[in-house]
Amino acid sequence: MDDWYEAGRLTAKVRDYGKKLIKENIKLIDVTENIEKFTLDNNINLAFPIQLSINEIAAHYAAFVNDDIIFKKNDLIKLDIGVCVNGAIGDSAVSVGIGNKWDKLISASEIALNEAIKIVKDGITLGEIGKTIEDAIHKTGFKPIRNLSGHGLNLFMVHNGINIPNYDTKESFKLKEGMVIAIEPFATTGDGLVKDGKDSDIFRLLTKKNVRDINARKLSNYIWEEKKTLPFSKRELLKKFSEYEVNIGLRNLINAGILHSYKHLIEKTNGIVSQTEHSVLIKKDRCEILTI
Ligand code: CO
Repeated sequence: MDDWYEAGRLTAKVRDYGKKLIKENIKLIDVTENIEKFTLDNNINLAFPIQLSINEIAAHYAAFVNDDIIFKKNDLIKLDIGVCVNGAIGDSAVSVGIGNKWDKLISASEIALNEAIKIVKDGITLGEIGKTIEDAIHKTGFKPIRNLSGHGLNLFMVHNGINIPNYDTKESFKLKEGMVIAIEPFATTGDGLVKDGKDSDIFRLLTKKNVRDINARKLSNYIWEEKKTLPFSKRELLKKFSEYEVNIGLRNLINAGILHSYKHLIEKTNGIVSQTEHSVLIKKDRCEILTI
């Protein structure tokens, strides 16, 4: 269990460091590189690329190569951080407003997370957690995003197949003592659904399988060594391989069916989205926040 506590503690450290860097007129890629340098200097392994999703983009935005996005007044930025310690994963997100315009929307997801944490323990059903989050967000006048959810965490798996819903799904599946889950309410001014947007240039290897193409093989060997099945960005591959190797290699891995490509997730009605997330350990009569 020690690795899970350590992963949580380091996730919080990186998240809190990164949060302070998000300011008006600062470039998204500069914040990303600054946080990456901080993790290198402190020997911290990221579990997935640093995500900085703005306004109606709910999730999965990571800096592109030569990204030119700049944080502007009245932007709402979600910073989502994952850290991996020997396979154990911490996952946590905060929302940051440039100015005060979205303070109420940000507190909606914070309140919902706090309410959920109060009730989560051994034997709680997924439906009960979802209902608590939905009720808390509705009370603030916003809507939860129904097709985004938290998730159970396993070794080297950011998502182990258990969804922690953000609305009342009535699911009767019960959480058990010893499980680690990420709870992440999303609140929005929109209708409360996301759709796929553009390619994010974030990928995940689905399995280790031999591929014919030399570029694909080189990439998959490297990814398996460094990341296993954790998500990674094209940007980080370009630090090790040529653009040709990366482009051909990624395409062949996708064609071979062993690479998942993530899309940006956009609120369908272009509503602004806030998100707050902690990883917690389920205990007999409560849960313990790990990313604190
Ligand atoms: Co998460």
